Amino acid sequence: MESTTPLLGLRGCVIDAPEYGKLRAWRDGAVIIGDGRIVEVGSFQFLGRKHRPQPIHWQQSDRAIIFPGLIDIHTHLPQYPVVARGRGQLLEWLHQHVFPRERNFTGQIGAREGAAFFSELARHGTTTAAIYTAIYEDSCDLAFEAAAQSGMRIIMGQTMMDVGTYGTLQPRKILSVALLESERLCRKWHSEADGLLEYAFSPRFALACSERLMRSAAEMALEFGCHIQTHLSENREECERVRHLFSKALDYTDVYDKAGLLGPQTILGHCIHLSPRERAVLAETGASVAHCPTANLYLSSGIMPLGEHLAAGIKVGLGSDVAAGPELNLWQVMRSAIESQKARSFSDPNVTIPSPAEVLHLATQGAATALGKGDILGTFDSGKEADITVMDLAALLPYGGTETKIEDLTPDDMLALCIYRGGPHAVLETFVRGVSHAHAHAHAEHVAHE
Ligand code: GUN
Ligand code: ZN
Repeated sequence: MESTTPLLGLRGCVIDAPEYGKLRAWRDGAVIIGDGRIVEVGSFQFLGRKHRPQPIHWQQSDRAIIFPGLIDIHTHLPQYPVVARGRGQLLEWLHQHVFPRERNFTGQIGAREGAAFFSELARHGTTTAAIYTAIYEDSCDLAFEAAAQSGMRIIMGQTMMDVGTYGTLQPRKILSVALLESERLCRKWHSEADGLLEYAFSPRFALACSERLMRSAAEMALEFGCHIQTHLSENREECERVRHLFSKALDYTDVYDKAGLLGPQTILGHCIHLSPRERAVLAETGASVAHCPTANLYLSSGIMPLGEHLAAGIKVGLGSDVAAGPELNLWQVMRSAIESQKARSFSDPNVTIPSPAEVLHLATQGAATALGKGDILGTFDSGKEADITVMDLAALLPYGGTETKIEDLTPDDMLALCIYRGGPHAVLETFVRGVSHAHAHAHAEHVAHE
């Protein structure tokens, strides 16, 4: 029997980036959504007339720019309140600002801040995120509870540390407790909320983890089929210390490789100072890189050689890396991804500068692929899940658009406006699996419902 549940039609300028450097756009376009999935994308003229058994409920606006939902593949929930703190580099910053903050992220705070954080993500146009919590089971558990309530698509895990941790457990108990707690959280939450929630084993980085912890985390991730997230090669002093601590390893990447941490389910934050050998290992193992350009500039960590990573065949997505990155705003992260390669190009003429279409790909289809979700998220291809971010052109334009001939703007112009001026003030609505999280500023005023 054919379903007569109405479909939802979104009309506006529709833009996606199915390949690196390839933009698809329908200037007066439409996306049809049914049962939480993309039914069809195309021009409004064509889709508006096409006969279907089901009625379409149209949401039309000449201000809407419609993108696949933005995907943040690296951020830290407990750190949001300490953004923009400190002037030192990574290790000093962790000890002075991050560990004291995470130390208090236990108990009910996980519920309260969790709920606030997920609505912040949506308000910024992010529909999927891969997130670290703190070292505690209780706050991570409550954050998952809040994630389930939020309806967002969340990959998350308890941060694991058994070296130099800020926790107060007796040293001989730390490892076994961390493993037990992470396993419990994984069993409880992985694939919950109809698959919107997933667990990520999250050993913090080589300087905070014993080899046994890393190896056990890798084994459990494999056993449960979940993700692994950690930090790799972010800061020169960090890299130097890893070299001394793990003198048998070929390099930093080899520390993780020997522990079994590298595979297609692995998300590696930063990866700035990699050798060609390390790049080849990441490409070969299928591990993904979370490129966090705003964080890399904030902590003076360096500029990740994006073109070299991509040329080596490594999967790359973008991360806000709050609180090293000062904002959850992925449009700012895209802008920073462009501008940091521009800065590199001033001293090296061989550096290629990514285009707006290329960084949009990194924040959507590229990120989806990095998370192993390239066939269900990232573009408007029919059958994919309807995770969508709708931006408000008027909120992006000077004078609210009154001095701009809007009909002359191309999709490329609109994408550039989002990247250079986008933020929560211009997010109209997000959808996760077809369910709306309406936001902004009097959304209803600008949208005609039929
Ligand atoms: N390396 C280890 N932990 C962290 C963290 O919390 N933030 C960043 N940016 N790098 C790290
Ligand atoms: Zn991080």
